[in-house]
Amino acid sequence: MELRTSPIIAVCNQKGGVGKTTTAINLAQALVLQDLKILLIDLDPQGNTTCGFGIKLESIQTSVADLIRDRDLLVDKAIYKGDRLDIIPATPYLARVEREMIGMTNSELRLMRKLDGVRERYSIIIIDTPPTFGPLMNAALNTAQHLIVPVDSFFSLIGIKELLAEMKG
Ligand SMILES: Nc1ncnc2c1ncn2[C@@H]1O[C@H](COP(=O)(O)OP(=O)(O)O)[C@@H](O)[C@H]1O
Ligand SMILES: [Mg+2]
Repeated sequence: MELRTSPIIAVCNQKGGVGKTTTAINLAQALVLQDLKILLIDLDPQGNTTCGFGIKLESIQTSVADLIRDRDLLVDKAIYKGDRLDIIPATPYLARVEREMIGMTNSELRLMRKLDGVRERYSIIIIDTPPTFGPLMNAALNTAQHLIVPVDSFFSLIGIKELLAEMKG
């Protein structure tokens, strides 16, 4: 029998301002209203999703950056628990860790491996991503099985082919 694990959805587009964060937050809230238990991961150093939930960036002790950087850190240390919606936050420190990821072994697989330990707790996991095609987006594409690509104009369609190729690879 196949083990039940939660689907992981990444909200991606390498263009900024197309509605990634809004989609990630609204989708998470809508699924919570369906009585589902959701984990929302902020993978953008701007921390908009984190702020959107009223978490003050300066109050964060452990964030998604620490999970990627420190292989021994338990995922629970970075989970901020809500009622049905838990969050792994991001802070500007993630930008520094993204630069370090270039020299890290398996940096694109680290997030996925950390999530293995908590996947059965959630109905769905949603990842908000940064507007750049770098190591963080690569990590999101390696972790997710599903993509939501918000587009708001012709220009935000450019690059989708590359995005999908990366996902397939
Ligand atoms: N579906 C939508 N319709 C209209 N405006 C939207 C929609 N989604 C997002 N916005 C607005 O677009 C701007 C950018 O949204 P945001 O979610 O921060 O984009 P991104 O995360 O891709 O940078 C915000 O001002 C937001 O309120
Ligand atoms: Mg955003």
